Amino acid sequence: MGLTPGGKQPPLDQSIPGFVIQDRARKKKYSVAELTNKVVLGDALKVLPKMEAESFDMVFVDPPYFLQLQGRKLKRWNVQTDVEGVTDDWDQFSSFEEYDQFIGNLLTELKRVMKPAATIWVIGTYHNIFRVGGLMQDIGYWTLNDVIWLKTNPMPNWLGVRFTNATETLIWALKDKDAKGYTFHKDCAKAFGVGKVGANVWVLPICTGKQRLKDENAQKLHSTQKPIELLRRVILTSTNEGDLVLDPVAGTGTTGAVAQALGRDFSMIEVNPRYVEGIEQRFEHGLSLTTEYSPDEEADAKQREVQQLK
Ligand SMILES: C[S@@+](CC[C@H](N)C(=O)[O-])C[C@H]1O[C@@H](n2cnc3c(N)ncnc32)[C@H](O)[C@@H]1O
Repeated sequence: MGLTPGGKQPPLDQSIPGFVIQDRARKKKYSVAELTNKVVLGDALKVLPKMEAESFDMVFVDPPYFLQLQGRKLKRWNVQTDVEGVTDDWDQFSSFEEYDQFIGNLLTELKRVMKPAATIWVIGTYHNIFRVGGLMQDIGYWTLNDVIWLKTNPMPNWLGVRFTNATETLIWALKDKDAKGYTFHKDCAKAFGVGKVGANVWVLPICTGKQRLKDENAQKLHSTQKPIELLRRVILTSTNEGDLVLDPVAGTGTTGAVAQALGRDFSMIEVNPRYVEGIEQRFEHGLSLTTEYSPDEEADAKQREVQQLK
């Protein structure tokens, strides 16, 4: 299909042997070993129940938002080009009840596969994060923090009828209130957060440019690919080298790519074969956070600006 990160590097011919596991109904159980550093092509709600309990040190979840854009076309008023919203099939649900059921089932299964001291991160926008947070509390998760991601390059509110929505919220939680010994690197939290106290606000841009996976028509492969820097902060703050990180709705596989680059192991699940193909090609090219990637300069500059406001 010719998917390339940033559309720059040529795709490699050979795929990584055994990297993608196609889930099948007849497969009843997965061991931790067979899922380590692999991506499962399948439905998370069917794959998770086949996994061993208490397997993962950290879980990152970037679930459908249920944006309910209803296919309405928006134009940028200054240049008259179309605004690309998230209208993908994977974001469609018939009602809040159906959405809540999906998220509730997902979070319940995730709790089972988390180690006792594991933590979970769930990211969302104002469209879904309050529902998600409520469900997390109902299911028994214990919230440690919310972290606000302030975007330096958000999509403006083209109609001028509301504030520009420039934030996403990450909920960081334990699997239950009494869980002890979770991993928290306070120096990382302080370095990434805003101001001298390292407040729970991360200032960084959305995923653009070379990071973005492209399809054969040089269009974005995925509408909501998350920036490498966001996952770098999540993983460095809440895991140790050698830990096993799970992403059950992996999209373009940002979580696994960053985990691998930082010396962590990963397991990912994604239901869409197109995205799984994109993940595979992303891993063929590899990612080195120490040599090829340095945190975004724009993000650093913006963070300094915000700090000066205090
Ligand atoms: C918000 S996107 C994740 C984007 C990802 N964090 C990235 O950086 O590319 C949500 C993903 O969930 C996937 N998805 C939705 N329902 C799923 C399910 N039942 N099982 C597995 N994946 C699912 C969608 O195909 C979509 O790629």
